[in-house]
Amino acid sequence: METEVCICGAGTMGRGIALAVAGHGMRTILYDLSADMIARSATHIHKELDESIKKKRISTAEKDEMLGRIQFTTSMQDCRAALVIEAIVEKTDVKSSLFSQLAVINNEKTIFATNTSSLSVTAIADQTSFPERIIGLHFFNPANRMKLLEIVRTKYVSDDLVTRMVTFAGQLEKTAVICHDSPGFIVNHVARPFYLEALRLAEKQIAEPETIDRLMESAGFKMGPFHLMDLIGNDINYIVSSTLYESMGKPARLKPSRLQEEKMKQGLLGRKTGHGFFQYTKSPSE
Ligand code: NAI
Repeated sequence: METEVCICGAGTMGRGIALAVAGHGMRTILYDLSADMIARSATHIHKELDESIKKKRISTAEKDEMLGRIQFTTSMQDCRAALVIEAIVEKTDVKSSLFSQLAVINNEKTIFATNTSSLSVTAIADQTSFPERIIGLHFFNPANRMKLLEIVRTKYVSDDLVTRMVTFAGQLEKTAVICHDSPGFIVNHVARPFYLEALRLAEKQIAEPETIDRLMESAGFKMGPFHLMDLIGNDINYIVSSTLYESMGKPARLKPSRLQEEKMKQGLLGRKTGHGFFQYTKSPSE
């Protein structure tokens, strides 16, 4: 269980993460290079909490308690915690350099998480001398409201660290999805285009269909791509993909999925056959 978390970068993501962490009883250090950003974050956090009071989600006393748990700072020396999460500029070397500097003032057990949305977590880890203590924690915007949290693991991290981050997600009342370090992780990859990229991730065994669907639904989609393909029918969906592929001059990005073709050939068409990517129990009336 985490009791203290330091968040570096007090911009869009950092302030939301700070709200989430402080809102769940943890001591929170919010650090930024810029005094202006710290001041703007403090204002933002006050406004968010006032909004929560208006909506009767929290009391005035709870607002004061939450604020009391947050330390706003522009001094790197204050960044001492068991877990550090960075939400700074999207540059590998800047993120690695920050972690290396913070490792000097923290102890050898401190975990460093990156909120990068597109960089390789492995590359960030590779530029430090403690890659086994670096992991991806990909929050979604606004971080205090969005329930989804991608936990991005590299070849360096232990299962224990992943489990610890899953526990942290639970402390934040977020839905954790674990994935291996890969471009765009899961959500940003699947969205382009919805079905085909989802299928490619599954083919590469980066994530199971169930995992992808669960996270897409957590992110706001009514149905994940695989449940939707099962609903449409894998035969129909495959044929539509093939037709589109042909008619658009066979662009590689629209290449139909071999995995879906296999499902079709095996008769695993989805709901209508009781088995597709998932198994379905047919009701007596069906
Ligand atoms: P932002 O530009 O709003 O905030 C970044 C903050 O980091 C700024 O306040 C800046 O002063 C500070 N900063 C820059 N370098 C620093 C350093 N070396 N030390 C301390 N503070 C430093 O950016 P935003 O949108 O919050 O993104 C932050 C990170 O989160 C990026 O890696 C981004 O890819 C990722 N992310 C962004 C999402 C979004 O929807 N905006 C969603 C998920 C991840």
